[in-house]
Amino acid sequence: MSKQLPFGVDYVPKRQRAKIVDGKAYVGKISEIPPGKARAIVLEKFRIAVFNVGGTFYAVKDACPHAEYPLSKGVVEGEEVTCASHNWKFDLKTGKCLQGGNLSIRTFEVVLDGDEIWVRVA
Ligand code: FES
Repeated sequence: MSKQLPFGVDYVPKRQRAKIVDGKAYVGKISEIPPGKARAIVLEKFRIAVFNVGGTFYAVKDACPHAEYPLSKGVVEGEEVTCASHNWKFDLKTGKCLQGGNLSIRTFEVVLDGDEIWVRVA
């Protein structure tokens, strides 16, 4: 049985947008998001949740397709996140909703550059 990881989110003021360079949004230093933690970054029109699952980073749109609850506040088991609002599950790799149907969340490529984490947004 895999262990449930509580995921926390750093508060980001609404007016504080992520820095974007060459189509990539800056997330932070690798050391700032240890395994079992998450961070949400704010773009112009939406947020992205970045999860560290055992040293592998995954980035998805930070809005559940059911009722827009932030997935960064969800619970992660393996490579799945469970929305904290109504418990829908999503595959962090593919974005596919594991409840069935065609719903999914948008995923983003994570780029590690030295000790920095970036997410490709364009
Ligand atoms: S808002 Fe995520 S399951 Fe309802």
